[in-house]
Amino acid sequence: MRHIINAESLSNADLETIFTYTRKLKKEGVKPETQLGLLNGRPRILASIFYEESTRTRLSFEAAMLRIGGEVIGTENARQFSSVLKGETLEDMIRVIAEYADIIVLRHDGEGAAENAASVSRVPVINAGDGSGEHPTQAFLDLFTILDAFPKQDGLRITFVGDLKYGRTVHSLARLLIRPSSTPLVSVSHINFVSPPAFQIPSEYLDMAMGQEISTSVCEEFTPEVTRRSDVIYTTRPQIKRHNGEEKRISNGSLAEQYKLTPELLGHAPEATIVMHPLPRTEELPVEIDADPRARYFEQAANGLYVRKALLLWVSEKI
Ligand code: NCD
Repeated sequence: MRHIINAESLSNADLETIFTYTRKLKKEGVKPETQLGLLNGRPRILASIFYEESTRTRLSFEAAMLRIGGEVIGTENARQFSSVLKGETLEDMIRVIAEYADIIVLRHDGEGAAENAASVSRVPVINAGDGSGEHPTQAFLDLFTILDAFPKQDGLRITFVGDLKYGRTVHSLARLLIRPSSTPLVSVSHINFVSPPAFQIPSEYLDMAMGQEISTSVCEEFTPEVTRRSDVIYTTRPQIKRHNGEEKRISNGSLAEQYKLTPELLGHAPEATIVMHPLPRTEELPVEIDADPRARYFEQAANGLYVRKALLLWVSEKI
């Protein structure tokens, strides 16, 4: 069964198929007359189960399902509006929902929740974010956006900025960029991780890169030198909700402010550089950047619809 639990759930060959299909869907735009029949028959119902807040991920999954002719059921506040409040376990709930729906999209605050759900589900489970763990479908749409901007370039330099300890989108995308493959989708030469010491990227990511031909650096300061040497600047907000006491003290202070991508800083970046952000943003990405042609975060979010349509078709074994 085609679950999507982490960045490893799809091989580069799978992603190639999905991205080719995504490009076709994006070119067609929102054309219900051509896309409504894509599921032709079963599976048809998506259950969207969200234990944590979401705008883009939930609505783009639901819109994607409706636009390819499927139907959607679900709860956007599973902790309060489902039997979880009566003490039902995630596993019991998933077992039951799998009898009602053909695909389950799950966002949960516990790391490993999607994997546990998949272990008891008789229908595909898609991880829409599990705590500080992973957010694979965001990474796929991020990679799609990078490839769209740099279809052929060798040796891309990627800079991640912000809360790299708890930012699950960074974890999944870094995994995708670093992993070894005989069919690489993207050529990355350097990854720079910029964050304060308390929110550094877990060391396993640096170890993973060491085994590949990818150099890494870890910086505490976001300087003009950093933007000058970046093809992709991927900024993120502080994940305050996940911080412990001491971390809260740091992040409530000036974390986002300290890692702000100011127009001045962006001024040092090459013209072809792109600025990405999974959104929602806080002070780290001021609205003044929106008018800069290098800003790609709204297009990145828009790509989510097309990538998720293709992912839904992939788990349904239609592509
Ligand atoms: C991200 C998430 O939920 O991890 N949002 C998203 O899905 N686009 C990033 C975040 O919430 O900071």
